[in-house]
Amino acid sequence: MSNAWVLVGMMGVGKSAVGRALAALSDREFRDTDILLQNLLGKSVAQIFEVYGEAAFRDHEHAALRRLEPGPYVLSTGGGIVMREDNWDEMRRLGTTIYLQAEPETLVRRLSESKKKRPLLLGDEWEQRLMDLLASRQPLYAKADFHISVDGQEIDEVAAAVHRRLESA
Ligand code: S3P
Repeated sequence: MSNAWVLVGMMGVGKSAVGRALAALSDREFRDTDILLQNLLGKSVAQIFEVYGEAAFRDHEHAALRRLEPGPYVLSTGGGIVMREDNWDEMRRLGTTIYLQAEPETLVRRLSESKKKRPLLLGDEWEQRLMDLLASRQPLYAKADFHISVDGQEIDEVAAAVHRRLESA
């Protein structure tokens, strides 16, 4: 059975956009844990945080991973999925993990331009919160099998770089 390609990384790094481009490039299906949760609960991620809270969101996120089987698809994940050790067991069971890495300036620029509402970055001082999250999560993202930098590159270029890396592995 084919292994899944699992993208991890910070909010704003482009996991979903790169994931879709990578899926098209490699003729794989595209899946996204945030979308799985939104479909399951009939609410946006922002609403799930608002109504049920972050802890419940994280439980649903873990359950969604557990329900997946390995297969020929690309899986984009929410930025916080790396925080639970048991999520790593599930992601490794599904396939190969790829960390999409960006300089803080790239994340700030992309998030400023993004229309997606991120519950963890609401209100003032979101940039400082982003930096704190990045600092605490960096060692976790580093556990991924491959690390690919997105700085200064278009979505398609990043997808092609991930593809080359995975195909040559
Ligand atoms: C989160 C990232 C979001 C979403 C939720 C929490 C995080 O996904 O899962 O808002 O903790 O970093 P993206 O990384 O796709 O923005």
